[in-house]
Amino acid sequence: MFSIDLIKQKIARGASERLNLFVDPDWIEYANPKAGSHLALPCFRFAKELESSPAEIAQKIALTLEIDGIGKIEQQGPYLNFWIEPATLHEGVVGSIEASMSDQPALNKTIIVEFLSPNLAKPLSIGHFRNVLQGRALVLMHKNAGYTVVTDNHIGDWGTVFGMWVVGFEKFSSEEKLAVGGVEELGRMYVEMRKALKEEEGNEETPLADSVQQWLLKLENNDPQAWDYHARFTDISLSSITEQMSELDIVFDNNLGESFFVERGKEMVVELLESGDAIKNQDGSVVVPLAEQGIDTPMLIQKSNGAALYHTSDIATIDYRERTWNPEMVIYVVGMEQQFHFKQLFAANKKVGWSDAELIHHWYGLIEEVDEDGKRSKMSSRKSAVYMADLIKLAIERARAAAPEDLSEEDVKRIAHGALTFREFSASHTGNTVFDWDSMFSLSGFSGPYVQYATVRINSILDKASGETGQPPSGYDWSEYADILWLLNRYDGVIGEANIDREYHKLAEYAYELARAWNKFYDSSPILTSEGDERQARLWLAQTIGRYLERSLYLLGIKIPSKM
Ligand code: ARG
Repeated sequence: MFSIDLIKQKIARGASERLNLFVDPDWIEYANPKAGSHLALPCFRFAKELESSPAEIAQKIALTLEIDGIGKIEQQGPYLNFWIEPATLHEGVVGSIEASMSDQPALNKTIIVEFLSPNLAKPLSIGHFRNVLQGRALVLMHKNAGYTVVTDNHIGDWGTVFGMWVVGFEKFSSEEKLAVGGVEELGRMYVEMRKALKEEEGNEETPLADSVQQWLLKLENNDPQAWDYHARFTDISLSSITEQMSELDIVFDNNLGESFFVERGKEMVVELLESGDAIKNQDGSVVVPLAEQGIDTPMLIQKSNGAALYHTSDIATIDYRERTWNPEMVIYVVGMEQQFHFKQLFAANKKVGWSDAELIHHWYGLIEEVDEDGKRSKMSSRKSAVYMADLIKLAIERARAAAPEDLSEEDVKRIAHGALTFREFSASHTGNTVFDWDSMFSLSGFSGPYVQYATVRINSILDKASGETGQPPSGYDWSEYADILWLLNRYDGVIGEANIDREYHKLAEYAYELARAWNKFYDSSPILTSEGDERQARLWLAQTIGRYLERSLYLLGIKIPSKM
């Protein structure tokens, strides 16, 4: 059976025999499109040892090498180029498609993807949107690779947030208002409270800030009224979040918040002091020194007044996850501004050894806008939207305006979500990205609607040809379609490469390339007006491209509308 990996191995073995040198299959590259071939072996690295020029070496191999499934081998400059036979390429797709189009067999390995994890008092923002799009793709891609995936929304329901809620409620709201306003009322009292705190800042007396701290302390001391408030506010906020997430097909297996871990965190502080992994400062605060791990700033796990901190709940979370799921890997999807927090946390885990899982901080940058004068700046509510809900609403309006009148609400949503999601994967998650409504919805460039439209067109052709199997006789000459077949064969490699560093924009680029290849093919090779074997070959190809496109987009979290 053909696969790119196998043929690379064969090439490496053949070249190695000819040169009497070790040749690593990984040295064989996808050929430069200008070469017109499929694979290429650059011969620079052999020059010194063989005391010969790369071109001469390539020539030498080309003359005698013959490999099953490769139609042409040719030296071009310092490269040795390989053209795989069209029939072999077709075989390769037929042989791998079923396995490629579904999740891989179970590995019996669990990974945890922690994402969203909002501070419950604040409405979900555009930053959270980047977060969930990354998180959703991480989940789908790891399921695809055969992992058992546990999702955890590590909600921020502890600390100042909580104190502000209670004081804000008592001062600016009421039971009646909360009953009517729900999550909006929660947001409103948080904002009021922030304003009020700002106003009293710098005053001699700060009664509001003091009562925030008092409520926090009550919570720490298991005061029933404090916990009653906590349960009610968390419930209101979380059900609104759950609703928003279900619109994006995201369901969390767990919503364990920081508060859930605080008790255990405090226990662990004691354990760490006992084992000597942590030390108590003169003021009573407790830290885990990390100098041996190469980090000068020790990790603070208890305040001088005995209160727990962000890191306290995070160490307990590591411990809990290890005991509950024994994961292979834990991926934290959190913004880039928390890099140092996780650097310390992971170093502390290395030091103490709570978990042997690989801990990964999968961060993302800011979303920026371009001003009229071409400058890039952080996205602001003045110009566009900063809340996730508004952003989705605007995208739906935009998709609706461009859609045929009778398009269903569901299809409009798929287009809007597709545009937003595909944009997320236009570049590496580690950098800042530019938000641009026009290119996001462009039907001629790298966009969700562009790749969706290609798929919709394929589906509509297949509908019209319903009942036809699209299976040409064996021995059919696939030469005309070698380029597309080659692209289809590359799918598994693209998935593998994207998985190495969780850079899923590579899959989006692949889908885009596939959609472009489809458009080119469709323009030059009419399907429904063709006949005989040619018709069957084209139908098969259309159907196959459609399946690869749909699967690639599915893994990124994008669905195909029934029409556009
Ligand atoms: N709630 C935090 C915030 O809004 C993010 C939590 C990240 N996860 C973690 N395990 N620390 O900034």
